[in-house]
Amino acid sequence: MKNPQPTLTLDRLWHGGDYNPEQWLDTPEVWDEDLRLMKLAHVNEATVGVFSWATLEPEEGRFAFEWLDAVMDRLARNGIDVVLATPSGARPAWLAQRYPEVLRVSPDRQRELFGERHNHCPTSPVYRRLCQRINRALAERYGRHPALKLWHVSNEYGGECHCDFCQNAFRAWLQRRYGTLERLNQAWWTRFWSHTYTSWDQIESPSPRGMRSLHGLNLDWKRFVTEQTLAFMQDEIAPLRELTPQVPITTNFMGTYPGLNYWRFADTLDVISWDNYPRWHAQGSDVDLASSVAFLHDLARSFKHQPFLMMESTPSTTNWMTVSKLKRPGMHRLSSLQAVAHGSDSVQYFQWRKSRGGPEKFHGAVVDHAGHERTRVFADVAEVGEVLEKLRPVAGSQILSSVAILYDWENRWAIDDAMGPRRDGRDYQPTCEAHHRALWRLGVMTDVINMDQDFSRYRLLVAPMLYMVREGVAERLEAYVRDGGTVVLTYWSGVADATDLCFIGGAPGPLKRLLGLWVEEIDAITEDDANVWVMEPDNSLNLHGTYGVRQLCERIHPETADVLARYGADFYAGEPAMTVNRWGAGAAYYLAARTDQRFLNNFYAALARELHLPSAVPFPLPEGVSATVRVRGAQQWTFLMNFSAEPREVHLGDAARHEVVSDRWLGGAVTVPPYGVLVLEAESPSHP
Ligand code: GAL
Repeated sequence: MKNPQPTLTLDRLWHGGDYNPEQWLDTPEVWDEDLRLMKLAHVNEATVGVFSWATLEPEEGRFAFEWLDAVMDRLARNGIDVVLATPSGARPAWLAQRYPEVLRVSPDRQRELFGERHNHCPTSPVYRRLCQRINRALAERYGRHPALKLWHVSNEYGGECHCDFCQNAFRAWLQRRYGTLERLNQAWWTRFWSHTYTSWDQIESPSPRGMRSLHGLNLDWKRFVTEQTLAFMQDEIAPLRELTPQVPITTNFMGTYPGLNYWRFADTLDVISWDNYPRWHAQGSDVDLASSVAFLHDLARSFKHQPFLMMESTPSTTNWMTVSKLKRPGMHRLSSLQAVAHGSDSVQYFQWRKSRGGPEKFHGAVVDHAGHERTRVFADVAEVGEVLEKLRPVAGSQILSSVAILYDWENRWAIDDAMGPRRDGRDYQPTCEAHHRALWRLGVMTDVINMDQDFSRYRLLVAPMLYMVREGVAERLEAYVRDGGTVVLTYWSGVADATDLCFIGGAPGPLKRLLGLWVEEIDAITEDDANVWVMEPDNSLNLHGTYGVRQLCERIHPETADVLARYGADFYAGEPAMTVNRWGAGAAYYLAARTDQRFLNNFYAALARELHLPSAVPFPLPEGVSATVRVRGAQQWTFLMNFSAEPREVHLGDAARHEVVSDRWLGGAVTVPPYGVLVLEAESPSHP
């Protein structure tokens, strides 16, 4: 029987981050200073070894662990937990020189030279063997070390390799998937432009010098890259599981990084972590950005329906954005606590100490080149550390969502790769975020899932632009709605299957019965062509007036669905634009055009009322303020976060509640300062 996977059980929220003492081997006083400063900053975790291979194995087969022994011991003595990384994210020069096959081949079939990082071939047997060997050595040496709490395999897996090893593995993967070339040719519709394959070895990965618009090939290549990266990760993990079955394992994701379908990694990992780098104060409104970040936190939490870790964030700025402004006072605390509010059990940074040289010497760090604690950033970080100590009981608590947004990687790949109905502005992710934003404004907690997950735990399921409908999904949606669920679908849904072949019979393909309509055509309109839709009088949601629609408008024909809104302009004025189909005990809504945010806000407010969706707070949230609740049994922590630069007033009700950050009792009208956060405990025995 398979061993149960270990879980990360923290009795405090982690505060720490990437720590690279190997850069300071020649200056032992820096190591001493680090420990003094970590105490001052309320740091209780350090992520060690992320890019340390050359220091750990200076020559092939000769390991140098003494420095790491000292680091682990010192951290343990100081009560600092260690997240120990495996070093595969970057390799020593000797390794690349001796085994050039570990270097990637780019899509134009050029082998890279030694350098940079995150660029190994995931198939190379030599690289897999050398990674396993050093991981085994690390596990043997530190598996029982008291500081070791979590393995961090590699760093931000990503990219792809087009070498011969990968090509052969891809062909073998395709053979397993399709069995015969005939089936593959059919699935990829290769008679088009005479692309029929007559032998497996004719198949090559997509390339700017070759095949690049065979959508089935592109999709399968992306699936293969995910599987190959996962297999590489599983190889990395094998010695860790064997020698340290008690130590949980993570790797750091990058939000919705397009290159890997992260859902495929969730089962292998014991805890999800991700690296969060929003561009505060520089990219439109901070409020909109905050809701986009909330979407990513919600996704990270949903992979395993358990607390996650914010493995990296910057204590101040990054060095790689076009412009990276300093966080305005309050923003560091607010964005750090936003992670916790959405289910993170940590606030971790890249990086603890700024390096003297190298490409990231100007990237923000807790300890700047100044080398002391008398900086604004250090004070901000120390303050967050103190707050996290006050929030200690929050560690391990859950978020219960009544709504899920469906954001599916394969669907995104297909939409992004499509040639039509418009070249730009297809905007799958921004559309998912816009729907999520409307719920975020209401304080309705929302998971972000893919189309393979269990829908039955939610009262409302929102699946914008469900272009790809994989086998069985339409039936599962029908069952969900029949049993009382409500689903929201939009334009450009039910168009193609898992290999991007269009459904014969037209859109919405297998969703036709559920939606009770068929789609005749889709109009991609320019930014100057804005249309509107007009709500039908006495519609069941009690919505009134007209709303702007833009970019994509479908002409639809309801069969069993009721019309809720009609287009107001153009040659299809008066035609249906929004419908609902009552199905069993539930309902399926269809929005046939892309609406403005105002409509989504009103629509989800109406649905929240109708479906009694629980909100984090019993009062309306002012513009820019968001709210979540974390729960453990009867204990509850409500986070109220003001992402606007203006103070905002909320009405808490008469009964005073304990605010944890300031340790005050608050009731009635309360002001949340600009970039302020309140954390209200549900009840306390010490209530006066
Ligand atoms: C992350 C990476 C870190 C560091 C950081 C800088 O993507 O994992 O090693 O480079 O970016 O923002």
